[in-house]
Amino acid sequence: MLPQVILFNGVSVDGRMDFGSGKIDMGIYYELASRWNADAMLSGSDTILAADGPAPAPDAETVTPPAEYHPLAVPHLVVVDSRGRIRNWNSLRSQPFWRNIIVLCSQATPADYVADLARRGIDHIIAGEDHVDLRAALEELNSRFGINSVRVDSGGTLNGVLLRAGLVSEVSVLLDPCMVGGSSPRSMFTAPDLTSEEGVIPLKLIHLERIGENLVWLRYEVAR
Ligand SMILES: NC(=O)c1ccc[n+]([C@@H]2O[C@H](COP(=O)([O-])OP(=O)(O)OC[C@H]3O[C@@H](n4cnc5c(N)ncnc54)[C@H](OP(=O)(O)O)[C@@H]3O)[C@@H](O)[C@H]2O)c1
Repeated sequence: MLPQVILFNGVSVDGRMDFGSGKIDMGIYYELASRWNADAMLSGSDTILAADGPAPAPDAETVTPPAEYHPLAVPHLVVVDSRGRIRNWNSLRSQPFWRNIIVLCSQATPADYVADLARRGIDHIIAGEDHVDLRAALEELNSRFGINSVRVDSGGTLNGVLLRAGLVSEVSVLLDPCMVGGSSPRSMFTAPDLTSEEGVIPLKLIHLERIGENLVWLRYEVAR
């Protein structure tokens, strides 16, 4: 069975995720995010690498066990990383936000990287040949780990792949009252241009809330 997949992003009024969304109070963002009480948070490798600064420190060779504090109430962290780029597992494991880390790899993921995950006791799923087959990986997250709901905390690329594959059940935005503009693809939905209306994804508004003075929280169900 496929888990429920929810996209949630802080965006400017023109849907961009750079500059404007950076001004959103992260305390408010994560308080709203916690209301889904999702079983897992899913991020792309670029999101994880961006969060750790331009040059994340590589792990020491030593294997650090997961932190002691892993209550079942906190979600799994699921990371898409078919190219084996994330190496700062000790830093991620030391954070109290995750119950466990699960890495999504593909047949193309370097074998030494997969072996290193196993050595460190980090769970991983191999799905797909080149990129990760996200449908198959989501199904395995459900069957193997009992994950029924996934909140995606990622940029437009991973959102775009999930949306175009028809895997998203809910789209939610926290609107920051600003306009950013620009021609680079920094919206919350980055994907090849459509050639017909057929690919437009219809949404149904299910929640609308003013947050504080200036923010608006919108939740939409994918209507197909
Ligand atoms: N404002 C917000 O709410 C918010 C939230 C999160 C992140 N962000 C920002 O978003 C930026 C990162 O976004 P991004 O769009 O560059 O990257 P991203 O959303 O992290 O997406 C990159 C991921 O997509 C995967 N991918 C690409 N094509 C795929 C395919 N065909 N099939 C399966 N997986 C595929 C890549 O997999 P591989 O690794 O396997 O290649 C990679 O893991 C950062 O600057 C971050 O700060 C903003």
